[in-house]
Amino acid sequence: MIEKIENLKSELQSLTASNTGEVEQLRIKYLSKKGLVTSLFSEFRNVPAEQKKELGQRLNELKTLAADRINELRESLSGGTDDDQCDIDLTRTATPLPLGTRHPLSLVRNEMIDIFARMGFTVAEGPEIEDDWHVFSALNFAADHPARDMQDTFFIMREPDVLLRTHTSSVQTRVMEKNQPPIRIVCPGRVYRNEAISARAHCFFHQIEGLYIDRDVSFADLKQALLYFAQQMFGAETKVRLRPSYFPFTEPSAEMDISCNLCGGKGCGFCKHTGWVEILGCGMVDPNVLEACGIDSKVYTGYAFGMGIERITNLKYRVKDLRMFSENDVRFLDEFIAAR
Ligand code: PHE
Repeated sequence: MIEKIENLKSELQSLTASNTGEVEQLRIKYLSKKGLVTSLFSEFRNVPAEQKKELGQRLNELKTLAADRINELRESLSGGTDDDQCDIDLTRTATPLPLGTRHPLSLVRNEMIDIFARMGFTVAEGPEIEDDWHVFSALNFAADHPARDMQDTFFIMREPDVLLRTHTSSVQTRVMEKNQPPIRIVCPGRVYRNEAISARAHCFFHQIEGLYIDRDVSFADLKQALLYFAQQMFGAETKVRLRPSYFPFTEPSAEMDISCNLCGGKGCGFCKHTGWVEILGCGMVDPNVLEACGIDSKVYTGYAFGMGIERITNLKYRVKDLRMFSENDVRFLDEFIAAR
């Protein structure tokens, strides 16, 4: 038995391993239940009583040696103590993860929706692929109105009645068809127009349109709602002015300007020295539209307005080239981290 112990000792002294898997193999070989060292302890039971003291000591030494050697090997391979093996150092500074940002158009859209929500408007959405009725006919566009022209509208070929919506007024048609007043909605979404892409025009952009129909809704209500919006969006000192205009679906119709938020109305290059910048179209819903959608125009009146989110974003953040919005250049998008 002494011989066995001594042999194992010298064997253990010269152990080597080239990876932690091998170290584990060695542990099993010597120290597991049926390992070489452990099985000597079973033999120990049969040793005559007078030898027990000395052999017991030697055996224990052997066991300690085996455990130490195997730990040594493991540590030399993992380059540190046992704890390092799982490679988690809770005191280490975390690697910073690059944070995403909301797209500037989403930021501005959300802000616009919030402002209208404070006036009781809820959000309504509808399909981007539409039919002639919801985009044009129900909205009082004459059969030969130029907006229906191939040059403005993307038609989906083979299906003359399927087209990409040119404004989100189509969502208003859908809501009016299905609901009786009071109706108070804003319709955010992407719209498409057949324009050559440049810094100032794109074949798609985004709108928020609004619609309020109830008894006794007046033009004064429209003006007040839009003034509130402009001052919330661009600051309390913002002024608005309405100029007469024309849309098939509103009568009377107007376009609204706000005092230039760059020069405060004094006149600068941005507002072409007029002190005003146009932001939206609006008007009182034409009775023909109400009737086409099943709403009694003798009982109800309403106002509608619509604006481009890109335009409002440009006024707020001075984005000079419309194409920036759809290029997904992170250097551009990262500029909006603070605004998030
Ligand atoms: N639909 C119009 C457009 O796309 C905007 C608008 C909406 C004008 C509602 C008046 C009333 O330009």
